[in-house]
Amino acid sequence: MYPFPIADLDTPDARSKRDGGDFARNWHTFWPDRPPREDLDVLVAGCGSNAAARYAFNHPQARVTGVDLSSSSLTHEAYLKDKHHLRNLTLHQGRIEDVSSLDRDFDFIDVSGVLHHLPDPVAGLKALGGVLRPDGTIAVMVYGQHGRTGVYMLQNMFRLMGLGQNEQDVVTVKQTLESLPKRHVIHDYMSRAPDLKYDAGLVDSFLHRQDRAYTVAQCLEFAAQAGMSFMHWWENILYYPEGQLNADHDLYKRVSAMPEESIWQFMELYNGTLGQHAFCVCHASRPATSYKIDFSADAFMDYVPVLRCVQVKPDKPVPETASPSGASRSRVRPIRSIRQRRRCSGRSTARGRSASALPPAGSRAKTPRLSAGHPSAISGD
Ligand SMILES: C[S@@+](CC[C@H](N)C(=O)[O-])C[C@H]1O[C@@H](n2cnc3c(N)ncnc32)[C@H](O)[C@@H]1O
Repeated sequence: MYPFPIADLDTPDARSKRDGGDFARNWHTFWPDRPPREDLDVLVAGCGSNAAARYAFNHPQARVTGVDLSSSSLTHEAYLKDKHHLRNLTLHQGRIEDVSSLDRDFDFIDVSGVLHHLPDPVAGLKALGGVLRPDGTIAVMVYGQHGRTGVYMLQNMFRLMGLGQNEQDVVTVKQTLESLPKRHVIHDYMSRAPDLKYDAGLVDSFLHRQDRAYTVAQCLEFAAQAGMSFMHWWENILYYPEGQLNADHDLYKRVSAMPEESIWQFMELYNGTLGQHAFCVCHASRPATSYKIDFSADAFMDYVPVLRCVQVKPDKPVPETASPSGASRSRVRPIRSIRQRRRCSGRSTARGRSASALPPAGSRAKTPRLSAGHPSAISGD
């Protein structure tokens, strides 16, 4: 069963694992043009053992539907449903590709860690688009290619050996991991992947019969092929130079001046280890003004910023002082209030840098750069 089954949702540990649809924190990224509400119709597509029950538990006013192929995962979801009296949760066994047979539509669809396992991921995303309301949002997470280079090397090794998904072969996987040379590229991935601490996680990573991974460019192409509009990355901070490149360096200025999609691709290569990409898509017919905050005028000052960065993991010691405004003070900085920053610097900025670090006005981006908050994705693992 995967992911690891949670025995009780009402514990500090389970509660702290906020789901992507934490509407109180993430509403402005899905529907910044309207006031928050909780009574949403939510589909958790490929819910696994916990995710649908977690949504229903955390959002008692929402009507949550969980769909999965796996009967053992659904049995655990049903256990959580009974344990916590989740009358707002409905579970169905079936394929995402056949989701139209539910004869339902949804405001919000979470499809995390699932589409990359489908034989035809575009068909899966199209099927989800078919049950999405006209102004709805789909939150997608798929594997990132560069961060999983080592995973695919090991998958190939185990394929050569003819390993299958059984206990004896999991022992061989463990022995292989223990004996690999220290210089092997998989070690960096293993240091960031909590799933590898239990057998089902090892099977999912190394013995899965079907998975593929995406680059930034392939994510954009994926959304377009399914006829959907790409809204934004879940964690903008991973895909923009702010907070990662030194704002005083020419490198920063040159990267910032590139077209937005090139910036995303550059930052993916710069990061080097993004093992997943999380992003939102919607119907192509949904007006972009309903989900893109316009930072070129003053209206955005009416928004109340939300701190979504819950985990800061600098990968090297933070230098004492680089430049008072420079991004090199910390690799990942919590996003401060725009109003706060305005008071500090005397100017407001949309991209999380102080006025002195702004590139020439002509190269300023007009799209929102509020960081979204998917706790598990903050380091892009
Ligand atoms: C990695 S788990 C992710 C579970 C959950 N989304 C989460 O984030 O915890 C992938 C799940 O997708 C399910 N799955 C794979 N292909 C599917 C399909 N075609 N239709 C429905 N579920 C599928 C698997 O059974 C598994 O439970």
